[in-house]
Amino acid sequence: MLSSTFRRVALSCFALLPVVHAAVFEVVVGGPGTLRYTPESVNAQPGDQIRFIFQQKNHTATQSTFENPCVKAPGGFDSGYVPVADGVTDGFPVAELNITSTDPVWVYCKQGTHCQAGMVFAVNPGDRMAAFKAAATGAATPSASTTSSAPTSSSTSTGTVHRIVVGGPGALTFNPSNINAAVGDTIEFEFRQKNHTVTASTFDAPCVPLAQSFDSGYVPVADGAATFPTWSIRVNDTRPIWAFCKQGNHCGQGMVFAANAVEPGKTFVDFQNLARQLNGTVGGSTGGGGYGSGALQTSVISSAGAVLAAVFAIAFLL
Ligand SMILES: *[C@@H]1O[C@H](CO)[C@@H](O)[C@H](O)[C@H]1NC(C)=O
Ligand SMILES: *[C@@H]1O[C@H](CO)[C@@H](O)[C@H](O)[C@H]1NC(C)=O
Ligand SMILES: *[C@@H]1O[C@H](CO)[C@@H](O)[C@H](O)[C@H]1NC(C)=O
Ligand SMILES: *[C@@H]1O[C@H](CO)[C@@H](O)[C@H](O)[C@H]1NC(C)=O
Repeated sequence: MLSSTFRRVALSCFALLPVVHAAVFEVVVGGPGTLRYTPESVNAQPGDQIRFIFQQKNHTATQSTFENPCVKAPGGFDSGYVPVADGVTDGFPVAELNITSTDPVWVYCKQGTHCQAGMVFAVNPGDRMAAFKAAATGAATPSASTTSSAPTSSSTSTGTVHRIVVGGPGALTFNPSNINAAVGDTIEFEFRQKNHTVTASTFDAPCVPLAQSFDSGYVPVADGAATFPTWSIRVNDTRPIWAFCKQGNHCGQGMVFAANAVEPGKTFVDFQNLARQLNGTVGGSTGGGGYGSGALQTSVISSAGAVLAAVFAIAFLL
């Protein structure tokens, strides 16, 4: 269980801790014009670590409960307010959370009405993420919904789960990389070695993140790992889903994924060929950096030594 205690730790205390974790999940908190945690949920194993990377404006990562998403859980952890000025572009403050069980951990931002606006996060939510968020925003919970006219409501339906293996030793692939999925299905990405993402893009710009869409963030998996983190998206409509790995030039080497790519001239093979042709570039900028989400890449502080670069760090101590 998570302990009730947390405290701010002077960054010098971190210098000694080159700890090997089964998996490290980076979760961006806020950012310009963004009231959300990105990604909004992760599936983690005991020994894994969550790193909350605080971006603009002034947010918290505070533990709540499924029943009361916007109320601090008795004895729950709380980062406290972490203000980040508009001009900051790197060295974002980080709060670490060590995962000690497979139980769900529910999290919200306690600033103003951020939680009510849907700024919530969960570790191991199972199929309850949509219900948790709905409870936070006061939206009808999927099961309590009385409207039958909303075909894309976020019901936790019993659709098919499509499992996609991401990477693995020597593999720069999504496997399978081209699927058909029905509305309500779940696409579950299982991350293997080394350090990949599944990031939404468009057919025309295969290697450029699509703003306001899904992005798993980097999911590093150690060479010797025996368990593999998963991350899922739900198929909300019948439109094609285009995605890529934003690590380095993986996309330019063809590491792309598509679901429901059925239109002639815009098949998976066309998409992959375009990714290779553009070789990770678009309009003169290179893939993997310089986009909206590039701040994460440049700011992420993934080794203990680099924590020294952070303005400060917050630890949730167990
Ligand atoms: C951050 O938000 C808290 C709570 O609203 C407020 O007390 C604090 O002054 C804010 N900090 C900054 C630097 O804006
Ligand atoms: C479907 O909608 C959910 C909730 O808005 C979102 O998190 C998810 O990324 C969407 N799926 C796709 C494929 O965009
Ligand atoms: C994963 O890749 C990102 C982007 O290249 C990098 O910032 C991060 O440090 C990597 N994480 C690990 C644990 O190697
Ligand atoms: C997280 O766990 C590691 C051991 O796996 C420990 O060394 C580290 O201090 C813990 N971090 C926090 C913030 O509790």
